[in-house]
Amino acid sequence: MFETAPLNPPDAIFGLMEEFKNDSNPDKINLTVGVYRDESGTTPVMKAVRQAEQILLDAAGTKGYLPIDGSADYNAAVGKLILGENTNAQIATAQTPGGTVSLRVAGELVKRVFNVDTIWMSNPTWANHPQIYTAAGLNLKKYEYLDDAGTGLGFDKVLASLAEAKAGEAILLHTVCHNPTGVDPTTEQWKELLTLVADKKLIPIFDFAYQGFGESLEADAFPIRHFIESGNDAIVCNSFSKNFGLYAERVGGISAIAHSADAANAMRSQIKSTIRTMYSNPPLHGGAIVQTILTDAELRATWEAELTEIRNRILDLRGKFVNKMQALAPDQDFGYINQQRGMFSYSGLRADQVARLKANHSIYALGSGRINIAGINSSNMDRLCEAIASVL
Ligand code: LMR
Repeated sequence: MFETAPLNPPDAIFGLMEEFKNDSNPDKINLTVGVYRDESGTTPVMKAVRQAEQILLDAAGTKGYLPIDGSADYNAAVGKLILGENTNAQIATAQTPGGTVSLRVAGELVKRVFNVDTIWMSNPTWANHPQIYTAAGLNLKKYEYLDDAGTGLGFDKVLASLAEAKAGEAILLHTVCHNPTGVDPTTEQWKELLTLVADKKLIPIFDFAYQGFGESLEADAFPIRHFIESGNDAIVCNSFSKNFGLYAERVGGISAIAHSADAANAMRSQIKSTIRTMYSNPPLHGGAIVQTILTDAELRATWEAELTEIRNRILDLRGKFVNKMQALAPDQDFGYINQQRGMFSYSGLRADQVARLKANHSIYALGSGRINIAGINSSNMDRLCEAIASVL
């Protein structure tokens, strides 16, 4: 029966991760998947997470089912993290297994409840976005995102593409630290873009996977808070993979943010019925860790300090990388890497250059030229920059 199943190509990001694993070169460098690595090249478990896990282990726990939308305390804490403590908005959050699932739930939700048939996404966008929304049965449309150089924002192109968007279509927005480019709109550009989204009556789905990786937990939420404070409703899909380092625990949430308790209740009921048919209810452990940290002042302070350290280290790596490249390849300006934010940079490398980095140097990056800055450390920086200079 299975003889007819065609072979699927490997995933654009996880496929490369596998290839990297199988490379026997001891000096190989992994700049592929968006996972933070520290100076020693490992993905650490945060101190706050270890402490929270100890608290959970000591508590008389239970492994009974969570409600369909997860723990109410988790959901309340997530809502406050997104919108801040003082908000008049009504928020219906449901815990999801990671950001990917929340994005898929959002697609199923808008299709079923609001008859959405089309979703706009930036070109380029995270490689999984088009697959997720195709799988949810939506048509995809792209808005151009980058300038002609391909390393900064082409805001006029964003606006020109979206001129064609129609009322009732959805739009996917990267709240901060755009994946794959690291290129974000300025505050003023966000205001203009969000006015367009509201005026055209598009349904925004904010993908919020990097809160705390841009400028701060608060500042990074600006686009969502501004949109909501302007009187609009929105869907937010958030992930705690990166900012809590909980990749493998699959922790995230979907939030429908409205302006009346009735609307929020209705949206909660719709989110729950969507979830029930997809995975029934979320896993316990990761969400319990996040809830424990967010609701304990001391643990939260520890976590915020660790997150600040991660953010600053990535910024420092950007600066060092740019300086090193300027010394090795003075004809090419890599200064834009200092303007980009988050884990990723559109390095400006072409697909053939990326291919040579892999073939000749065991350096793995995405074919689009996306590199994970957090894969760089002081022991691989020189080798990396020399290899890049050699393929320019
Ligand atoms: C990435 O873009 O590398 C991360 O978001 C991990 C993933 O799931 O692709």
